[in-house]
Amino acid sequence: MTAIRQKTLKNELCSGYTDPVAFRNGIFRIIKNDNKAYLKLRFLFCLTKKVTFMLKLFTRTRKYAKIPSRTFGYLQMSVCRIFTTVEKMRLDKFLSQTKTLSRSEATKAAKAGLITVNGMTVRDCSTHIAPETDVIGYQGAVIKYRKFIWIMMNKPSGVLSASDDKKAKTVIDLLPPPLCSMGLFPCGRLDKDTVGLLLITNDGELSHKLLTPKNHAKKTYRYVLSVPYDTSKRIEDGIPMDGKITKPAVIVSDSPVSGTITLTEGKYHQIKRMFEYAGSKVTFLQRTDFAGLHLDNTLKDGEWRYLTEEETEILKKAVNS
Ligand code: URA
Repeated sequence: MTAIRQKTLKNELCSGYTDPVAFRNGIFRIIKNDNKAYLKLRFLFCLTKKVTFMLKLFTRTRKYAKIPSRTFGYLQMSVCRIFTTVEKMRLDKFLSQTKTLSRSEATKAAKAGLITVNGMTVRDCSTHIAPETDVIGYQGAVIKYRKFIWIMMNKPSGVLSASDDKKAKTVIDLLPPPLCSMGLFPCGRLDKDTVGLLLITNDGELSHKLLTPKNHAKKTYRYVLSVPYDTSKRIEDGIPMDGKITKPAVIVSDSPVSGTITLTEGKYHQIKRMFEYAGSKVTFLQRTDFAGLHLDNTLKDGEWRYLTEEETEILKKAVNS
């Protein structure tokens, strides 16, 4: 950056330029090539994140501190906007994503003065808000933001566990249109003919943790075989597969041709190949459990529902996240 450009920016910043975004971007441009300044700013960001947290905490005790909600909301919003690199989202998108209102309902509700951002009434639904730090209210109730979507589906047979496919129907095609365009993907794969519990999400990090074999997330399947399982083969102790030995599994059979099998890894066609190794053939496979969650029996083939907060906590706990 040239010295003249830097000077212009400094003048801009010192002249009481109050647009917070321009202010922040200006600072970034100035310090871009200055590592020391960058570290200082990072420290400042951490500090201000803590301050933001404290401000949030103070919201609860605001009435005791006798700060008018308007002033307080403005203060909080300013701190968040200037110092933190927060993700922004349109207000109507936030309301529809949190399933509070549809976009058109949100527009009407905002016009009617029913929506607040940090205590201030906002009548324009195109307003950009910071979903993780701004406090959004609808008819006096605070709307909780969930960054990630987690869905439990009872996967039917004949559908691909993929985000999209040119020819075949995928599990994402079974979701309604607004969800189809939200970057969702299946957390792991079930074969086309395997049915049962499939999680669908847009949370890449937790999904990865649940799928990596090193975290040992358990998956239980109900199986039916065409030929009785020869128990002397002890496939549950591990068999050679893809140049390695499969991890120990647990088989609980309720007849020579059916039972449940629990794995802590997920190789391609793993269960089918394991029984094949023992001279048997899987004719039906249904996943019933995944990382501490049990398939919701009220979900019919192809039906789905959002996970509850408790259920996402179970997932996190399963991988110590
Ligand atoms: N093992 C299989 O063989 N198929 C599945 O879909 C899941 C596990």
